[in-house]
Amino acid sequence: MASITINTNPAIPALPRFEDKKKVDVRYMLIPPYASAHIYWNNKINELVYDIEEPLLQDSEKDVLEKLEKAMIELININVAIENTLEATTSYIDKTARLLIDELNIPVSHETYSRIFYYLFRDFIGMNEVDPLLRDYFIEDIECNGVDTPVFIVHRVYRNLKTNLVYHDIDQLASFVEKMAQRAGRYISYASPLLDGALPDGSRVNATYTKDVTSRGPTFTLRKFTKIPWTPIQLISMNTVSPEMLAYFWILIQYKCSILIAGGTASGKTTLLNALAFFIPPEARVVSIEDTREINLPRENWLPAVARTSIGIGKVGEVDLFAILKNSFRQTPDYLIVGEVRGKEAFVLFQGMASGHASISTMHADSVDTLIKRLQTPPIELSPTLINTLDCVAIATHAIVNQKETRRLREVVEIVNVNRDGTALVNTPLMWDAAKDVFYFKKQSKVFEKISLRHGIPMEKLQNEFATRTKVLYAMYQQKIFEMEEVQKVINDYFKNPIDVLAKFNIEG
Ligand SMILES: Nc1ncnc2c1ncn2[C@@H]1O[C@H](COP(=O)(O)OP(=O)(O)O)[C@@H](O)[C@H]1O
Ligand SMILES: [Mg+2]
Repeated sequence: MASITINTNPAIPALPRFEDKKKVDVRYMLIPPYASAHIYWNNKINELVYDIEEPLLQDSEKDVLEKLEKAMIELININVAIENTLEATTSYIDKTARLLIDELNIPVSHETYSRIFYYLFRDFIGMNEVDPLLRDYFIEDIECNGVDTPVFIVHRVYRNLKTNLVYHDIDQLASFVEKMAQRAGRYISYASPLLDGALPDGSRVNATYTKDVTSRGPTFTLRKFTKIPWTPIQLISMNTVSPEMLAYFWILIQYKCSILIAGGTASGKTTLLNALAFFIPPEARVVSIEDTREINLPRENWLPAVARTSIGIGKVGEVDLFAILKNSFRQTPDYLIVGEVRGKEAFVLFQGMASGHASISTMHADSVDTLIKRLQTPPIELSPTLINTLDCVAIATHAIVNQKETRRLREVVEIVNVNRDGTALVNTPLMWDAAKDVFYFKKQSKVFEKISLRHGIPMEKLQNEFATRTKVLYAMYQQKIFEMEEVQKVINDYFKNPIDVLAKFNIEG
Protein backbone atom coordinates (compact mmCIF):
# COMPACT_ATOMS: atom_id res chain seq x y z
CA MET A 1 0.00 0.00 0.00
CA ALA A 2 1.18 3.50 -0.81
CA SER A 3 2.22 5.57 2.15
CA ILE A 4 0.03 8.27 3.57
CA THR A 5 0.86 11.94 3.50
CA ILE A 6 -0.82 14.46 5.66
CA ASN A 7 0.00 18.13 5.48
CA THR A 8 -0.16 19.92 8.80
CA ASN A 9 1.30 23.14 7.50
CA PRO A 10 -0.89 24.30 4.63
CA ALA A 11 -0.45 27.70 2.96
CA ILE A 12 -2.57 30.40 4.52
CA PRO A 13 -5.09 31.63 1.96
CA ALA A 14 -5.93 35.28 1.39
CA LEU A 15 -9.57 35.38 2.45
CA PRO A 16 -11.94 37.85 0.82
CA ARG A 17 -14.01 40.22 2.95
CA PHE A 18 -17.60 40.87 2.05
CA GLU A 19 -19.67 43.94 2.82
CA ASP A 20 -22.71 41.72 2.59
CA LYS A 21 -22.40 38.72 4.91
CA LYS A 22 -24.97 36.83 2.86
CA LYS A 23 -22.44 36.64 0.02
CA VAL A 24 -19.84 34.79 2.06
CA ASP A 25 -19.07 31.33 0.70
CA VAL A 26 -15.46 30.33 1.18
CA ARG A 27 -13.69 27.06 1.59
CA TYR A 28 -10.06 26.40 2.52
CA MET A 29 -7.96 23.44 3.53
CA LEU A 30 -7.14 22.84 7.18
CA ILE A 31 -5.45 19.45 7.04
CA PRO A 32 -4.76 18.69 3.37
CA PRO A 33 -5.94 16.56 1.74
CA TYR A 34 -8.51 15.58 4.37
CA ALA A 35 -10.14 18.39 6.27
CA SER A 36 -11.33 21.79 5.17
CA ALA A 37 -13.37 24.71 6.44
CA HIS A 38 -16.50 25.92 4.72
CA ILE A 39 -17.83 29.29 5.80
CA TYR A 40 -21.12 30.43 4.33
CA TRP A 41 -24.38 32.16 4.97
CA ASN A 42 -26.94 29.65 6.17
CA ASN A 43 -30.36 30.72 4.88
CA LYS A 44 -32.27 28.51 7.27
CA ILE A 45 -30.97 30.15 10.40
CA ASN A 46 -29.94 33.48 8.86
CA GLU A 47 -26.44 33.25 10.20
CA LEU A 48 -22.91 32.91 8.99
CA VAL A 49 -21.73 29.39 9.84
CA TYR A 50 -18.50 27.42 9.87
CA ASP A 51 -18.60 23.80 8.76
CA ILE A 52 -15.72 21.44 9.35
CA GLU A 53 -15.56 19.13 6.36
CA GLU A 54 -13.94 15.78 6.93
CA PRO A 55 -13.87 12.47 5.05
CA LEU A 56 -17.16 10.63 5.30
CA LEU A 57 -17.06 7.08 6.54
CA GLN A 58 -19.55 4.39 5.67
CA ASP A 59 -20.95 2.36 8.55
CA SER A 60 -18.67 -0.56 7.75
CA GLU A 61 -15.69 1.80 7.76
CA LYS A 62 -16.77 3.27 11.07
CA ASP A 63 -16.69 -0.24 12.49
CA VAL A 64 -13.17 -0.74 11.24
CA LEU A 65 -12.09 2.59 12.73
CA GLU A 66 -13.65 1.69 16.06
CA LYS A 67 -11.96 -1.71 16.13
CA LEU A 68 -8.61 -0.16 15.24
CA GLU A 69 -8.90 2.61 17.80
CA LYS A 70 -9.68 0.13 20.56
CA ALA A 71 -6.78 -2.09 19.64
CA MET A 72 -4.40 0.81 19.28
CA ILE A 73 -5.17 2.30 22.67
CA GLU A 74 -3.85 -0.92 24.19
CA LEU A 75 -0.82 -1.01 21.95
CA ILE A 76 0.70 2.40 21.70
CA ASN A 77 2.31 4.68 24.15
CA ILE A 78 1.00 8.00 23.00
CA ASN A 79 3.06 10.00 25.48
CA VAL A 80 6.22 8.69 23.94
CA ALA A 81 4.70 9.31 20.56
CA ILE A 82 3.82 12.97 21.04
CA GLU A 83 7.26 13.83 22.28
CA ASN A 84 8.70 12.94 18.89
CA THR A 85 8.45 14.92 15.68
CA LEU A 86 5.13 14.98 13.93
CA GLU A 87 6.48 12.98 10.99
CA ALA A 88 7.86 10.30 13.27
CA THR A 89 4.62 10.07 15.22
CA THR A 90 2.52 9.98 12.08
CA SER A 91 4.56 7.17 10.62
CA TYR A 92 4.44 5.33 13.97
CA ILE A 93 0.64 5.49 13.96
CA ASP A 94 0.59 4.44 10.31
CA LYS A 95 2.82 1.43 10.93
CA THR A 96 0.93 0.34 14.02
CA ALA A 97 -2.42 0.60 12.25
CA ARG A 98 -1.20 -1.44 9.26
CA LEU A 99 0.19 -4.06 11.58
CA LEU A 100 -3.14 -4.37 13.36
CA ILE A 101 -5.04 -4.56 10.10
CA ASP A 102 -2.87 -7.52 9.16
CA GLU A 103 -3.14 -9.12 12.53
CA LEU A 104 -6.88 -8.72 12.87
CA ASN A 105 -7.28 -9.69 9.26
CA ILE A 106 -9.49 -6.76 8.27
CA PRO A 107 -9.85 -6.27 4.53
CA VAL A 108 -9.50 -2.57 3.63
CA SER A 109 -8.85 -0.83 0.36
CA HIS A 110 -6.26 1.92 0.12
CA GLU A 111 -9.01 4.56 -0.15
CA THR A 112 -10.73 3.32 2.96
CA TYR A 113 -7.47 3.09 4.84
CA SER A 114 -6.50 6.60 3.90
CA ARG A 115 -9.81 7.98 5.22
CA ILE A 116 -9.58 5.93 8.37
CA PHE A 117 -6.02 7.03 8.86
CA TYR A 118 -7.15 10.63 8.97
CA TYR A 119 -9.29 9.85 12.01
CA LEU A 120 -6.51 7.91 13.70
CA PHE A 121 -4.22 10.88 13.15
CA ARG A 122 -6.84 13.33 14.40
CA ASP A 123 -7.72 11.37 17.52
CA PHE A 124 -4.35 9.97 18.55
CA ILE A 125 -1.93 12.71 17.58
CA GLY A 126 -4.31 15.62 17.37
CA MET A 127 -7.05 16.96 19.56
CA ASN A 128 -9.96 14.89 18.28
CA GLU A 129 -13.00 16.71 16.88
CA VAL A 130 -11.55 20.18 17.53
CA ASP A 131 -8.24 19.38 15.84
CA PRO A 132 -9.17 20.99 12.50
CA LEU A 133 -10.26 24.11 14.39
CA LEU A 134 -7.02 24.27 16.33
CA ARG A 135 -5.10 24.04 13.07
CA ASP A 136 -7.06 26.83 11.42
CA TYR A 137 -4.75 29.85 11.37
CA PHE A 138 -7.74 32.18 11.29
CA ILE A 139 -9.39 30.91 14.45
CA GLU A 140 -8.68 32.83 17.63
CA ASP A 141 -11.03 31.21 20.13
CA ILE A 142 -13.01 27.99 20.39
CA GLU A 143 -15.84 27.73 22.86
CA CYS A 144 -17.98 24.77 23.89
CA ASN A 145 -20.83 25.34 26.30
CA GLY A 146 -21.75 21.72 26.86
CA VAL A 147 -23.57 18.96 25.03
CA ASP A 148 -26.28 19.42 22.42
CA THR A 149 -25.20 22.95 21.64
CA PRO A 150 -22.88 23.98 18.82
CA VAL A 151 -19.25 24.87 19.40
CA PHE A 152 -18.58 28.55 18.61
CA ILE A 153 -15.45 30.10 17.22
CA VAL A 154 -14.03 33.58 16.70
CA HIS A 155 -12.58 33.94 13.23
CA ARG A 156 -10.08 36.62 12.29
CA VAL A 157 -11.95 37.61 9.19
CA TYR A 158 -15.58 36.60 9.73
CA ARG A 159 -15.67 36.98 13.55
CA ASN A 160 -18.24 34.99 15.58
CA LEU A 161 -19.40 31.80 13.93
CA LYS A 162 -21.41 28.79 14.92
CA THR A 163 -19.77 25.53 13.84
CA ASN A 164 -21.26 22.20 12.82
CA LEU A 165 -19.45 20.55 15.71
CA VAL A 166 -21.85 19.48 18.46
CA TYR A 167 -21.09 17.06 21.29
CA HIS A 168 -24.03 14.83 22.11
CA ASP A 169 -22.48 12.52 24.64
CA ILE A 170 -21.47 13.82 28.07
CA ASP A 171 -18.97 11.00 28.55
CA GLN A 172 -17.28 11.75 25.26
CA LEU A 173 -17.03 15.45 26.12
CA ALA A 174 -15.76 14.63 29.62
CA SER A 175 -13.06 12.37 28.28
CA PHE A 176 -12.02 15.09 25.85
CA VAL A 177 -11.65 17.51 28.77
CA GLU A 178 -9.56 14.83 30.50
CA LYS A 179 -7.37 14.60 27.44
CA MET A 180 -6.83 18.36 27.41
CA ALA A 181 -5.94 18.26 31.10
CA GLN A 182 -3.45 15.51 30.42
CA ARG A 183 -1.85 17.40 27.53
CA ALA A 184 -1.71 20.51 29.70
CA GLY A 185 -0.02 18.50 32.45
CA ARG A 186 -2.82 19.26 34.89
CA TYR A 187 -4.94 17.14 37.13
CA ILE A 188 -8.68 17.33 36.84
CA SER A 189 -11.36 15.39 38.74
CA TYR A 190 -14.90 15.77 39.93
CA ALA A 191 -13.48 17.01 43.20
CA SER A 192 -11.38 19.68 41.48
CA PRO A 193 -13.29 20.28 38.29
CA LEU A 194 -11.63 23.45 36.98
CA LEU A 195 -8.87 23.35 34.40
CA ASP A 196 -6.73 26.36 33.57
CA GLY A 197 -3.60 25.54 31.61
CA ALA A 198 -1.74 25.58 28.33
CA LEU A 199 -1.61 22.94 25.61
CA PRO A 200 1.79 21.98 24.16
CA ASP A 201 1.27 24.40 21.23
CA GLY A 202 0.78 27.23 23.71
CA SER A 203 -2.99 27.59 23.41
CA ARG A 204 -4.70 28.48 26.68
CA VAL A 205 -7.37 26.11 27.87
CA ASN A 206 -10.10 26.69 30.41
CA ALA A 207 -12.52 23.88 31.16
CA THR A 208 -15.06 22.64 33.63
CA TYR A 209 -15.40 18.96 34.30
CA THR A 210 -18.83 18.12 35.49
CA LYS A 211 -21.32 15.38 35.02
CA ASP A 212 -24.10 17.17 36.75
CA VAL A 213 -27.09 16.02 34.72
CA THR A 214 -29.01 19.24 35.21
CA SER A 215 -26.25 21.18 33.47
CA ARG A 216 -25.15 20.63 29.92
CA GLY A 217 -22.06 18.80 31.09
CA PRO A 218 -18.42 19.81 30.70
CA THR A 219 -17.49 23.07 28.97
CA PHE A 220 -14.25 24.42 27.56
CA THR A 221 -12.70 27.50 25.98
CA LEU A 222 -9.54 27.36 23.94
CA ARG A 223 -7.67 30.56 23.22
CA LYS A 224 -5.11 30.11 20.49
CA PHE A 225 -1.45 30.71 21.04
CA THR A 226 0.20 34.02 20.24
CA LYS A 227 3.43 33.44 18.47
CA ILE A 228 6.84 34.61 19.54
CA PRO A 229 7.34 37.63 17.31
CA TRP A 230 9.77 37.73 14.44
CA THR A 231 12.45 40.34 14.88
CA PRO A 232 13.35 42.91 12.20
CA ILE A 233 16.51 40.93 11.48
CA GLN A 234 14.53 37.73 10.89
CA LEU A 235 12.40 39.63 8.40
CA ILE A 236 15.60 40.65 6.58
CA SER A 237 16.69 37.03 6.48
CA MET A 238 13.36 36.04 4.91
CA ASN A 239 13.79 38.86 2.43
CA THR A 240 10.48 40.38 3.50
CA VAL A 241 12.10 43.78 3.95
CA SER A 242 15.45 45.30 3.06
CA PRO A 243 17.83 46.72 5.69
CA GLU A 244 17.19 50.11 4.06
CA MET A 245 13.47 49.85 4.62
CA LEU A 246 14.05 49.07 8.27
CA ALA A 247 16.58 51.87 8.70
CA TYR A 248 14.01 54.21 7.19
CA PHE A 249 11.34 53.08 9.69
CA TRP A 250 13.83 53.27 12.53
CA ILE A 251 14.31 56.97 11.81
CA LEU A 252 10.60 57.64 11.32
CA ILE A 253 9.74 55.90 14.56
CA GLN A 254 12.46 57.70 16.51
CA TYR A 255 11.08 61.05 15.35
CA LYS A 256 7.53 60.09 16.27
CA CYS A 257 6.02 59.79 12.83
CA SER A 258 2.87 57.78 12.25
CA ILE A 259 2.94 54.63 10.20
CA LEU A 260 0.12 52.47 8.95
CA ILE A 261 0.72 48.98 7.61
CA ALA A 262 -1.78 47.97 4.96
CA GLY A 263 -2.30 44.70 3.12
CA GLY A 264 -4.64 41.79 2.59
CA THR A 265 -5.58 39.05 5.02
CA ALA A 266 -2.54 37.19 6.36
CA SER A 267 -0.17 39.35 4.31
CA GLY A 268 2.10 39.77 7.33
CA LYS A 269 0.86 43.13 8.64
CA THR A 270 0.82 42.23 12.32
CA THR A 271 4.16 40.45 12.02
CA LEU A 272 5.70 43.57 10.51
CA LEU A 273 4.02 45.81 13.07
CA ASN A 274 5.55 43.79 15.85
CA ALA A 275 8.98 43.90 14.22
CA LEU A 276 8.82 47.68 13.75
CA ALA A 277 7.95 48.13 17.41
CA PHE A 278 11.53 47.06 18.22
CA PHE A 279 12.56 50.52 16.99
CA ILE A 280 10.58 52.41 19.61
CA PRO A 281 13.07 54.20 21.90
CA PRO A 282 13.61 52.27 25.14
CA GLU A 283 12.42 54.98 27.51
CA ALA A 284 9.21 55.72 25.59
CA ARG A 285 5.83 54.75 27.00
CA VAL A 286 3.91 52.42 24.73
CA VAL A 287 0.24 51.51 24.78
CA SER A 288 -0.99 48.77 22.48
CA ILE A 289 -4.60 48.02 21.71
CA GLU A 290 -5.86 44.90 20.00
CA ASP A 291 -8.87 42.70 19.99
CA THR A 292 -6.80 39.56 20.04
CA ARG A 293 -3.52 39.42 21.86
CA GLU A 294 -0.90 39.12 19.09
CA ILE A 295 1.64 41.82 19.79
CA ASN A 296 4.54 40.93 22.00
CA LEU A 297 7.31 43.38 22.86
CA PRO A 298 10.54 42.83 24.79
CA ARG A 299 10.22 46.06 26.76
CA GLU A 300 9.20 47.19 30.21
CA ASN A 301 7.37 50.40 29.58
CA TRP A 302 4.48 48.84 27.79
CA LEU A 303 0.81 48.61 28.55
CA PRO A 304 -0.99 46.01 26.45
CA ALA A 305 -4.77 46.23 26.29
CA VAL A 306 -7.10 43.67 24.78
CA ALA A 307 -10.68 44.43 23.85
CA ARG A 308 -12.58 41.24 24.15
CA THR A 309 -16.00 40.30 25.34
CA SER A 310 -17.09 36.71 25.81
CA ILE A 311 -17.73 34.95 22.56
CA GLY A 312 -20.64 33.13 21.07
CA ILE A 313 -23.24 35.77 21.56
CA GLY A 314 -23.31 39.47 20.82
CA LYS A 315 -20.63 41.25 18.88
CA VAL A 316 -17.01 41.93 19.50
CA GLY A 317 -15.05 44.90 18.43
CA GLU A 318 -15.56 48.44 17.43
CA VAL A 319 -17.13 49.98 20.48
CA ASP A 320 -14.76 48.21 22.82
CA LEU A 321 -11.68 49.16 20.88
CA PHE A 322 -12.99 52.72 20.71
CA ALA A 323 -13.54 52.91 24.46
CA ILE A 324 -10.18 51.39 25.27
CA LEU A 325 -8.36 53.68 22.88
CA LYS A 326 -9.99 56.75 24.39
CA ASN A 327 -9.14 55.53 27.81
CA SER A 328 -5.55 54.81 26.83
CA PHE A 329 -4.84 58.51 26.39
CA ARG A 330 -5.07 58.85 30.15
CA GLN A 331 -1.95 56.73 30.27
CA THR A 332 -0.20 59.50 28.28
CA PRO A 333 1.57 57.16 25.88
CA ASP A 334 4.33 58.35 23.58
CA TYR A 335 3.53 55.58 21.13
CA LEU A 336 0.21 54.04 20.30
CA ILE A 337 -0.01 50.66 18.66
CA VAL A 338 -3.35 49.60 17.25
CA GLY A 339 -3.43 45.95 16.19
CA GLU A 340 -6.02 46.43 13.50
CA VAL A 341 -8.00 49.55 12.65
CA ARG A 342 -11.51 48.55 11.63
CA GLY A 343 -14.07 51.11 12.61
CA LYS A 344 -14.70 54.21 14.57
CA GLU A 345 -11.68 53.80 16.80
CA ALA A 346 -9.77 55.16 13.79
CA PHE A 347 -11.07 58.60 14.68
CA VAL A 348 -9.55 58.48 18.16
CA LEU A 349 -6.29 57.17 16.72
CA PHE A 350 -6.00 59.92 14.12
CA GLN A 351 -6.92 62.59 16.64
CA GLY A 352 -4.16 61.23 18.82
CA MET A 353 -1.76 61.44 15.89
CA ALA A 354 -2.86 65.02 15.22
CA SER A 355 -2.01 65.92 18.80
CA GLY A 356 1.52 64.58 18.53
CA HIS A 357 1.32 60.94 19.52
CA ALA A 358 3.34 58.60 17.37
CA SER A 359 1.53 55.53 16.11
CA ILE A 360 1.99 52.26 14.33
CA SER A 361 -1.10 50.35 13.27
CA THR A 362 -2.42 47.99 10.62
CA MET A 363 -5.46 48.05 8.40
CA HIS A 364 -6.96 45.80 5.78
CA ALA A 365 -6.47 47.43 2.34
CA ASP A 366 -4.56 46.39 -0.76
CA SER A 367 -3.36 49.78 -1.90
CA VAL A 368 -2.94 53.34 -0.72
CA ASP A 369 -5.91 54.40 -2.83
CA THR A 370 -8.23 51.87 -1.23
CA LEU A 371 -6.86 52.75 2.17
CA ILE A 372 -7.47 56.49 1.75
CA LYS A 373 -10.96 55.72 0.49
CA ARG A 374 -11.77 53.39 3.35
CA LEU A 375 -10.60 55.98 5.85
CA GLN A 376 -13.04 58.50 4.39
CA THR A 377 -16.13 56.31 4.06
CA PRO A 378 -18.37 54.83 6.78
CA PRO A 379 -17.89 53.45 9.34
CA ILE A 380 -14.61 55.38 9.65
CA GLU A 381 -15.35 58.69 7.92
CA LEU A 382 -12.26 60.77 8.61
CA SER A 383 -11.75 64.23 7.12
CA PRO A 384 -8.91 64.75 4.63
CA THR A 385 -7.24 67.06 7.17
CA LEU A 386 -7.12 64.31 9.76
CA ILE A 387 -5.81 61.76 7.26
CA ASN A 388 -3.00 64.19 6.54
CA THR A 389 -1.54 63.42 9.96
CA LEU A 390 -0.54 60.01 8.60
CA ASP A 391 3.09 60.12 7.44
CA CYS A 392 3.64 56.79 5.83
CA VAL A 393 1.89 53.65 4.61
CA ALA A 394 3.70 50.33 4.21
CA ILE A 395 2.04 47.82 1.92
CA ALA A 396 2.50 44.17 2.85
CA THR A 397 1.77 41.47 0.31
CA HIS A 398 1.66 37.73 -0.29
CA ALA A 399 4.23 36.69 -2.83
CA ILE A 400 5.19 33.46 -4.49
CA VAL A 401 8.97 33.36 -4.90
CA ASN A 402 10.59 30.18 -6.24
CA GLN A 403 7.23 28.44 -5.92
CA LYS A 404 7.17 29.23 -2.23
CA GLU A 405 4.63 31.28 -0.33
CA THR A 406 6.32 34.26 1.29
CA ARG A 407 5.62 37.82 2.28
CA ARG A 408 7.12 41.01 0.90
CA LEU A 409 6.90 44.64 1.85
CA ARG A 410 5.79 45.85 -1.55
CA GLU A 411 6.08 49.60 -1.15
CA VAL A 412 6.67 52.33 1.34
CA VAL A 413 4.40 55.20 0.42
CA GLU A 414 4.55 58.64 1.99
CA ILE A 415 1.38 60.68 2.24
CA VAL A 416 2.45 64.10 1.05
CA ASN A 417 -0.97 65.69 1.06
CA VAL A 418 -4.59 64.60 1.11
CA ASN A 419 -6.57 67.06 -0.97
CA ARG A 420 -9.96 68.43 -0.05
CA ASP A 421 -11.59 66.21 -2.65
CA GLY A 422 -10.15 63.22 -0.83
CA THR A 423 -7.45 62.30 -3.35
CA ALA A 424 -3.89 61.95 -2.11
CA LEU A 425 -0.54 63.16 -3.33
CA VAL A 426 2.04 60.51 -2.49
CA ASN A 427 5.76 59.83 -2.72
CA THR A 428 7.20 56.32 -2.88
CA PRO A 429 10.79 56.24 -1.62
CA LEU A 430 11.20 52.47 -1.33
CA MET A 431 9.79 49.58 -3.25
CA TRP A 432 10.07 45.93 -4.13
CA ASP A 433 10.56 44.75 -7.70
CA ALA A 434 8.46 41.61 -8.07
CA ALA A 435 10.15 40.44 -11.27
CA LYS A 436 13.67 40.50 -9.82
CA ASP A 437 12.71 40.05 -6.17
CA VAL A 438 14.89 42.96 -5.11
CA PHE A 439 14.24 46.15 -3.18
CA TYR A 440 14.94 49.63 -4.50
CA PHE A 441 15.56 52.93 -2.89
CA LYS A 442 13.90 55.06 -5.51
CA LYS A 443 13.34 58.57 -4.32
CA GLN A 444 14.25 61.10 -1.72
CA SER A 445 12.06 60.81 1.34
CA LYS A 446 9.60 63.65 1.91
CA VAL A 447 9.09 62.52 5.47
CA PHE A 448 12.81 63.04 6.12
CA GLU A 449 12.29 66.61 4.93
CA LYS A 450 9.42 66.96 7.39
CA ILE A 451 11.57 65.59 10.21
CA SER A 452 14.40 67.90 9.21
CA LEU A 453 12.10 70.94 9.43
CA ARG A 454 10.29 69.89 12.59
CA HIS A 455 13.37 68.95 14.57
CA GLY A 456 15.93 71.27 13.00
CA ILE A 457 18.17 68.43 11.85
CA PRO A 458 20.04 69.03 8.59
CA MET A 459 18.94 66.68 5.77
CA GLU A 460 22.51 65.55 5.32
CA LYS A 461 22.64 64.34 8.88
CA LEU A 462 19.45 62.34 8.42
CA GLN A 463 20.83 60.80 5.22
CA ASN A 464 23.99 59.76 7.04
CA GLU A 465 21.99 58.33 9.89
CA PHE A 466 19.91 56.38 7.37
CA ALA A 467 23.04 54.96 5.72
CA THR A 468 24.68 54.08 9.05
CA ARG A 469 21.62 52.35 10.45
CA THR A 470 21.27 50.39 7.22
CA LYS A 471 24.81 49.14 7.81
CA VAL A 472 24.10 48.27 11.45
CA LEU A 473 21.03 46.24 10.48
CA TYR A 474 22.89 44.49 7.70
CA ALA A 475 25.76 43.67 10.06
CA MET A 476 23.31 42.22 12.57
CA TYR A 477 21.88 40.07 9.83
CA GLN A 478 25.33 38.89 8.74
CA GLN A 479 26.24 38.05 12.31
CA LYS A 480 22.95 36.19 12.73
CA ILE A 481 21.65 38.30 15.57
CA PHE A 482 18.06 37.10 15.33
CA GLU A 483 16.77 36.58 18.86
CA MET A 484 14.25 38.96 20.36
CA GLU A 485 16.27 40.06 23.41
CA GLU A 486 19.54 40.31 21.54
CA VAL A 487 18.09 42.37 18.70
CA GLN A 488 16.31 44.69 21.10
CA LYS A 489 19.54 45.20 23.03
CA VAL A 490 21.55 46.29 20.00
CA ILE A 491 18.82 48.74 18.99
CA ASN A 492 18.53 50.14 22.52
CA ASP A 493 22.31 50.42 22.80
CA TYR A 494 22.37 52.31 19.55
CA PHE A 495 19.87 54.82 20.93
CA LYS A 496 22.03 55.38 24.02
CA ASN A 497 25.48 55.04 22.61
CA PRO A 498 25.75 54.71 18.84
CA ILE A 499 29.54 55.02 18.76
CA ASP A 500 29.99 51.86 20.83
CA VAL A 501 27.62 49.91 18.62
CA LEU A 502 29.39 51.07 15.46
CA ALA A 503 32.73 50.10 16.96
CA LYS A 504 31.39 46.68 17.90
CA PHE A 505 30.30 46.05 14.32
CA ASN A 506 33.34 47.70 12.74
CA ILE A 507 31.27 50.30 10.98
CA GLU A 508 32.51 53.80 10.20
CA GLY A 509 29.84 56.26 11.31
N1 LIG B 1 7.59 37.92 6.59
C1 LIG B 1 6.95 36.76 6.52
N2 LIG B 1 7.46 35.71 5.82
C2 LIG B 1 6.79 34.54 5.75
N3 LIG B 1 5.61 34.29 6.35
C3 LIG B 1 5.05 35.29 7.05
C4 LIG B 1 5.70 36.58 7.18
N4 LIG B 1 4.93 37.37 7.94
C5 LIG B 1 3.86 36.62 8.28
N5 LIG B 1 3.94 35.38 7.75
C6 LIG B 1 2.96 34.29 7.88
O1 LIG B 1 1.69 34.79 7.62
C7 LIG B 1 0.84 34.60 8.72
C8 LIG B 1 0.01 35.83 8.87
O2 LIG B 1 0.77 36.88 9.38
P1 LIG B 1 0.09 38.12 10.10
O3 LIG B 1 1.19 39.06 10.41
O4 LIG B 1 -0.77 37.67 11.22
O5 LIG B 1 -0.83 38.69 8.92
P2 LIG B 1 -1.95 39.82 8.92
O6 LIG B 1 -1.77 40.64 10.18
O7 LIG B 1 -1.68 40.60 7.68
O8 LIG B 1 -3.26 39.12 8.86
C9 LIG B 1 1.76 34.29 9.90
O9 LIG B 1 1.24 33.36 10.78
C10 LIG B 1 2.97 33.72 9.26
O10 LIG B 1 2.85 32.32 9.16
MG1 LIG C 1 -3.20 41.06 11.65
